Amino acid sequence: MEYPFQITSLEQYKEQYQKSVDEPESFWGDIAENFYWRKKWDKVLEWNFKEPKVEWFKGGKLNITENCIDRHLETMGEKPAIIWEPNNPDERTRVVTYTRLHKRVCQFAQVLLNNGVKKGDRVCIYMGMVPELAYAVLGCARIGAIHSVIFGGFSAQSIADRLEDAKAEFIVTCDGAYRGGKDIPLKSIIDDALIGNKTVKKVIVYTRTRTPVSMIKGRDVWWEDEMDYALSQIEKNNVVTMPATEMDAEDPLFILYTSGSTGKPKGVVHTCGGYMVWTTYTFVNVFQYKPGDVHFCTADIGWITGHSYIVYGPLAAGGTSVMFEGVPTWPDAGRFWDIVDKYKVNVLYTATTAIRSLMSYGLDPLQGKDMSSLKVLGTVGEPINEEAWHWYDQHIGKKKCPIVDTWWQTETGGILISNLAGITPAKPSWATLPMPGVQPVLVDERGKEVTEPDEHGLLKGNLCIKAPWPGIIRTTYGDHERCRTNYFATYENLYFTGDGALKDKDGNFRITGRVDDVLNVSGHRIGTAEIENAINMHASVVESAVVGFPHSIKGQGVYAFVITEKKHPEDDLAKKDILETVSRIIGPIAKPDKIQFVNGLPKTRSGKIMRRILRKIAEGETENLGDTSTLLDPSIVDEIKQNKV
Ligand code: PRX
Repeated sequence: MEYPFQITSLEQYKEQYQKSVDEPESFWGDIAENFYWRKKWDKVLEWNFKEPKVEWFKGGKLNITENCIDRHLETMGEKPAIIWEPNNPDERTRVVTYTRLHKRVCQFAQVLLNNGVKKGDRVCIYMGMVPELAYAVLGCARIGAIHSVIFGGFSAQSIADRLEDAKAEFIVTCDGAYRGGKDIPLKSIIDDALIGNKTVKKVIVYTRTRTPVSMIKGRDVWWEDEMDYALSQIEKNNVVTMPATEMDAEDPLFILYTSGSTGKPKGVVHTCGGYMVWTTYTFVNVFQYKPGDVHFCTADIGWITGHSYIVYGPLAAGGTSVMFEGVPTWPDAGRFWDIVDKYKVNVLYTATTAIRSLMSYGLDPLQGKDMSSLKVLGTVGEPINEEAWHWYDQHIGKKKCPIVDTWWQTETGGILISNLAGITPAKPSWATLPMPGVQPVLVDERGKEVTEPDEHGLLKGNLCIKAPWPGIIRTTYGDHERCRTNYFATYENLYFTGDGALKDKDGNFRITGRVDDVLNVSGHRIGTAEIENAINMHASVVESAVVGFPHSIKGQGVYAFVITEKKHPEDDLAKKDILETVSRIIGPIAKPDKIQFVNGLPKTRSGKIMRRILRKIAEGETENLGDTSTLLDPSIVDEIKQNKV
């Protein structure tokens, strides 16, 4: 498969960028011609950010799985679509060709139909990183069911909240999942999540770990039995036929929950046509993917990175995508490099936090690993510090692989700001230039465009985007007003990202981090309010305030200031209880790194917690805490400072 829309020079990038801004409809209309539509669109784009309403390729009819699978069968049927590396390196790997992927996805789509799933129904997927997870995602897409994948690290309570919000009627899960030395009992967590649930009718369970599970009659069915039966229905004379459901370009494809400033995760909704065009376009251009390349994105499909750059983008481009079940440090910290060597990986796309963590093991884990196949490296999830960037460049890329620093969000569907590998210049720790179709702007607190450079010649402000690109969020599930207030109401006629950024005179962007009450812990987004809610659930907690602090591996760590009923319970037990509570309510990823028991929190006379002060204390600042005169009780600040943990 060739890519007529692949940008091959800096001049071409500039020219394409200009065209995308001047004539977005003709620009994206031309790109969309490279996909398989059952019927072409009536209108390329209609939008306003007031409601907001964004419609791309309206009236176009398609099914994304025909683009990700069927259209490749004739010419690339035997080409690997997914190469699966199991958690345990001694276990057999699996190579899933496009023909095999087609068969499995069709089979699973039929399983869904057999279990009563219809177009538009929400199917929650809570699985480990096994190929069956990809089959489940694509099986939903094939019949127009809306998938909502939940990362395997979330707790029963988090799942229960998401099931309720999405009014999900179906679940696909595994008995358990392997992650490094751990075996996570997924089905049992689902059983807990389902206590009190009123919407879920069926649970389909894939066998991975052979962990004992309780199967409830009438509700729970085994994946394997269902798949066998489905195959008998759709396969005749070795030919599998299972028609894909025709979808409108603007029909929802999936929901993915993400944290915001409020205590409740939002169900970000992406639709079929625009998301497909955006993920494929960015995949091919940012990574400069060439037919036959082996692409290894190390993310989990429970996050947007996995949706867009393990599943949809690479497959729509007819690529080969490596899917890894385990973790980077098990059985040792050379695991990624083993995988690169084993599959001759050409493109490695990983999280900044993973790079920093692997860096801390030194160079021994790299010994004896042949990584000469690598052509392009990528990072995602948080700003990359220059030290980590140079380590990645020198020791992994051997100074011959361009590094793409890709900035984007769950809400953006795909990469918005990044250099194009080897085509546009890289600048360590800068995401650099916007993709065609993306018009970033920096504004001040009042929404006025920042035009005055600071003393370093840089513009500094809150990062917004002026106009829609095909992969933009369409709504938050079940609550459109929430989508408006979160992203489109802060500044008029702009999409607000929640990030702060710098811009240099050449137009490069450097993302400096969140400007709202959202933390980025190991590249995972967690709202402080969500963690506070969880801590406050603990019986002896009166109030809490959570802020981030710089963490050498995680990027940001979680620092919790907690008021308890009993004054200063010195024992570690109280801390452990709080950690356990957060694990139960959200999941282990949200556990505070530091807990400090305090007698009070710095509050204004109107009762608002002054987080600015707490943030400074957590960062280790003792002197310049700013103005504390408006505090109800300024003495509390000294006490908190003295007892910092
Ligand atoms: O703060 C930015 C940071 O991650 C946030 C988005 O998180 P999430 O929706 O979970 O998606 C993560 C993977 C796309 C952003 O608002 N972020 C993501 N990539 C970068 C980044 N910060 C700096 N540089 C990046 N390359």
